[in-house]
Amino acid sequence: MRVHVILPAAGIGTRMAAGAHTAAPKQFMELGGVPILIHSLRAYAAIPSVSTIVVAVRVNEMERVQSQVSEHGLAGRVKVVEGGDNRQQSVANAVAALDAAPNDPVLVHDAVRPLITPAIIQHTIDAIEKHGAAIVALPAVDTIKQVERTADGAIITATIPRERIVQAQTPQGARFELMQRAFKDAAEADFVGTDEASLLERIGVEVSVVHGSPRNFKITQPGDLELAEFYLTQG
Ligand code: C5P
Repeated sequence: MRVHVILPAAGIGTRMAAGAHTAAPKQFMELGGVPILIHSLRAYAAIPSVSTIVVAVRVNEMERVQSQVSEHGLAGRVKVVEGGDNRQQSVANAVAALDAAPNDPVLVHDAVRPLITPAIIQHTIDAIEKHGAAIVALPAVDTIKQVERTADGAIITATIPRERIVQAQTPQGARFELMQRAFKDAAEADFVGTDEASLLERIGVEVSVVHGSPRNFKITQPGDLELAEFYLTQG
């Protein structure tokens, strides 16, 4: 069994740019002197069963990423492909570039979650082998409200029992054959989701949940980089 990993890294980072007055997409910003994308790549390259890592980036960044990958000694197992207009399309392009067996686990990880640990990655691989599909998530600690947006902000329409809620992180994944089916079906139905689980759910796949970590957060807004630096220095 070989494990395959997809790192979507073709976002343009508008939320980060809005506050920080910078146009650099967050996946290329540095954390401890190393680009965020490289931290994520290293985490997966350290897992012996991972045979391929496909990185999806914007076409004008393919050359730069390829040389960063070589510079950090990761070229052997890494393939760089062109991303798409949304995260789902970037992942779909990477799925199409995989050479995998039907039962091989395929994991998708946001390039902008550089603090993922080997233990969580391994638990996700184990859960995919056992159940067919899995995601990493955290139990909700805040009370969750459903709202309706209004001109002034929002009004509450329901309170959702938080013991029934988890907040999705990555990695997320499934056996290759299920991933192929989920992406094909979504494309045919013009369905666009924000994660892989939503595509798997809609074709009836049961997705199991693996416990995540608050450190595995998505670097999204100004201030997140400082928090990630702090966690990194804490080991
Ligand atoms: O924008 P969002 O927070 O959903 O981004 C999650 C991940 O998806 C990021 O690593 C980002 O680079 C990636 N992405 C992508 N292609 C896009 C948009 C986002 O690969 N068109």
